[in-house]
Amino acid sequence: MEKLRVELGERSYEVLIDRGNIPLIGERLLRFSIGKKVALISNPKIFELYGEKVTSSLKKEGFDPYVVLIPDGELYKDYFWAYHIITRLLESGFDRKSCLIALGGGVIGDITGFVASIYMRGIPYIQIPTTLLAQVDSSVGGKTAVNHPLGKNMIGSFWQPSLVWIDVDTLDTLPEREFISGLAEVIKYGIIWDNEFFELLDKNKEKILRKEKEILIQIIKRACEIKAEVVSKDERESSLRAILNYGHTIGHAIETLTGYSSYLHGEAISIGMVYEAKLSSILGFLDRESLERIKNILKNFGLPINLPLNMDFSAMIKTILLDKKNIEGKLRMVFPEAIGKMKINFEISEEDLKKVLNE
Ligand SMILES: NC(=O)c1ccc[n+]([C@@H]2O[C@H](COP(=O)([O-])OP(=O)(O)OC[C@H]3O[C@@H](n4cnc5c(N)ncnc54)[C@H](O)[C@@H]3O)[C@@H](O)[C@H]2O)c1
Repeated sequence: MEKLRVELGERSYEVLIDRGNIPLIGERLLRFSIGKKVALISNPKIFELYGEKVTSSLKKEGFDPYVVLIPDGELYKDYFWAYHIITRLLESGFDRKSCLIALGGGVIGDITGFVASIYMRGIPYIQIPTTLLAQVDSSVGGKTAVNHPLGKNMIGSFWQPSLVWIDVDTLDTLPEREFISGLAEVIKYGIIWDNEFFELLDKNKEKILRKEKEILIQIIKRACEIKAEVVSKDERESSLRAILNYGHTIGHAIETLTGYSSYLHGEAISIGMVYEAKLSSILGFLDRESLERIKNILKNFGLPINLPLNMDFSAMIKTILLDKKNIEGKLRMVFPEAIGKMKINFEISEEDLKKVLNE
């Protein structure tokens, strides 16, 4: 089992990565001072695949699992379904010692974390992420949220999990497209933090795409280590943590303007990373060779690197200017000045943005 720690003082926790470890979750939970009542939050698809393994492991160790399922999809990561979970917990007598377990991708992880953060002013929760994106990104770092009709992730909190329990075998059932999409976030860590990791990904492309477990464990661990280090230094995103948003300013605009239906998150982020790297190159920071390396690695892993042909650039600029990361109407972005080194909070003019989108 591979292990790392997210260092956040009394809110520190471990991320454990292995294969076939889902049935051991009950035993692990015995180490925590939590009550016997545990709620497993999931969706019908994931519960069907892994729910029984989790609940029987919990029962075996004397826990009393209670299952709450919400429909599958981003559409249900909202206040209504958070309220539904809370109602079910109240009806079933969950108290401040009770613990929640998120079994699923980022949608389940985000809504479960959000409910845990507000239920009786905050109860513990555990992440069992089952998508690559959730394993390398959303399960670590304590950002929780639900969507509002006026914006994605607009209602949320910082609430750290007590444990992140990763079983890479769950990736066997993940649709290929979701897996590739998750790889965009993995590659992001190389670009923002670690050139050696970037090279390791490049060299091991075949093994990764074949989902060989040894390399998967290695890259998930390194991705989580980088995220853990960044989050430990800047939990609430006052500066450094913003580097994790690389690719997301343009990526979110693509997702918004295509109605969240044409691109998976990682696919939109892949395009966003390319255009934000181009921006850095136009501004004279990133050299051409590094820009080509970024484009090539994403393309070679099967990720999109070009904006959709019919993209309305003025709508895109408007959307980017509305991004919640902007401060007082000024557009601020992070982008690489070299592979492994980022520029943070750089003020961008509308002209530069127009230039890069027209490239
Ligand atoms: N909190 C954060 O820091 C953070 C970071 C990045 C993204 N997010 C959020 O994460 C969400 C996206 O997460 P996602 O990409 O994991 O999507 P998701 O949770 O919607 O999962 C994608 C699909 O895969 C299915 N699935 C999950 N695991 C599976 C498995 N092992 N086998 C078969 N099918 C499986 C799901 O049911 C779903 O249909 C977004 O809501 C985004 O806002 C949060």
